[in-house]
Amino acid sequence: MKKDLGSVLALYPTPLTVVGAVVNGKPNWVLVGHVGIMGHDRIMVSLAKPHYTNQGIYESRKLSVNIVDEALLAKADYVGCVSGNKTDKSGVFACSMGQSGAPLIDEAKLSMECTVEDIYETKGFDNFILKIDHTYAEESILSEDGKIDYGVFKPVLFEMPGYTYLKTGDSAAKCMTLGRERQ
Ligand SMILES: Cc1cc2nc3c(=O)[nH]c(=O)nc-3n(C[C@H](O)[C@H](O)[C@H](O)COP(=O)(O)O)c2cc1C
Repeated sequence: MKKDLGSVLALYPTPLTVVGAVVNGKPNWVLVGHVGIMGHDRIMVSLAKPHYTNQGIYESRKLSVNIVDEALLAKADYVGCVSGNKTDKSGVFACSMGQSGAPLIDEAKLSMECTVEDIYETKGFDNFILKIDHTYAEESILSEDGKIDYGVFKPVLFEMPGYTYLKTGDSAAKCMTLGRERQ
């Protein structure tokens, strides 16, 4: 029998990301699990209004979304534990400025450099709707035909109820193979 949990957010796990933006002249990094895909060319990151990072995003409208793998996880977890409001996190990651002006984590194997297109405010949150200007990927995570191979990259996922990071990498099936078999 199913239990009605009420209005509970159940859309987990989500990819774990570190968002980077210049705040008061320095890069700042924040761990973000509440991210989403919109259509085929927009993404969304949801940031609580008191976060230090939001100030910089409002000012420059530029940010990077760096996808976390296990190699990045310890530092990523750190930038989710401390706020730029109290601690200078600019030195946590070596970084380079992207072509649009957002700070990109050098050691991240996969990063998107984005421009804010819209801000959808909900109570206590800035939900930034982003246009992807550039996507930068380490060659080591690309397949022979130049596509991102998530089986090789193995992004870390986030789930809120157990407040846990999950591993990825195993494949369940190729898309549309199981459906076609049933036709
Ligand atoms: C696993 C994890 C996921 C998080 N996801 C989000 C998120 O999706 N949105 C958000 O606003 N804060 C999220 N946070 C909290 C921020 O990363 C944290 O409060 C951070 O210190 C804010 O940094 P800032 O004030 O320098 O911007 C998350 C923290 C953890 C540990």
